[in-house]
Amino acid sequence: MGDLTRATDEELQRIYNDIPSFYDRANALISFFQDVKWRTELVATVRSYVPKPRSVLDVASGKGELSFIVKKLMDKDTIMLDYALNMLKSSFVEGERVLASFYNLPFRDGAFDAVVSSFALHAADDIEEVVREMARVSRGVIGVIAMGKDDNPILRSYVGIYLRFIQPYLAKLVGAKPEDYRYIYYIYRRIPVNSQVKKTFEKYVELKLFEVKALGSVYICVGTKRDLGR
Ligand SMILES: C[S@@+](CC[C@H](N)C(=O)[O-])C[C@H]1O[C@@H](n2cnc3c(N)ncnc32)[C@H](O)[C@@H]1O
Repeated sequence: MGDLTRATDEELQRIYNDIPSFYDRANALISFFQDVKWRTELVATVRSYVPKPRSVLDVASGKGELSFIVKKLMDKDTIMLDYALNMLKSSFVEGERVLASFYNLPFRDGAFDAVVSSFALHAADDIEEVVREMARVSRGVIGVIAMGKDDNPILRSYVGIYLRFIQPYLAKLVGAKPEDYRYIYYIYRRIPVNSQVKKTFEKYVELKLFEVKALGSVYICVGTKRDLGR
């Protein structure tokens, strides 16, 4: 196994290929059963800007947890994109699946009415590259939930302790390997604070929502293309 503390793209790809079977249970437990609520809030907000999208892209879709909510709230199958084949193979929703990296989305500019992503953007070494790509292939809205990091160092240290010492063992309770979840702490250490992430989004979209949850460890962000509706 490589050096997890670096949490490289290749190392993460191996981990993501390793975790599909218990992914949903682990995700629910480590988010204290808030993950579905947060995805629903994201999709409901996106829907308020594009009520009847013709096309929706789910970036780093995993098994389709966000696509499932898109289908429920917007009655639309998404295109699911992920770089972990095992995640796509375990997908439980209808829709086209594309094996690709979020750094190079294999679509033309403005191809989708909505481009969404949940619990994945933090895995990027360079968040801005992915936000730029998402904004490029959207003609309407982009919406993201991801792990964030509060600007307040005291809150950051609470979350750091949780991620390092508690969360891997919660994941173990549902059958996951604690070492596969320790990487989340290493990612947390390297991601930018929320105010910087917000500025990054503002470079590419008109921000409509930037809301933080769980001591700043999660943000929900929705933005529209600047020329939307003009
Ligand atoms: C924690 S899972 C989230 C899955 C799903 N979106 C959800 O809401 O539960 C993170 C997903 O991001 C994918 N991912 C991470 N880095 C990626 C990259 N560079 N390109 C494409 N997918 C990536 C992983 O394979 C994994 O399926």
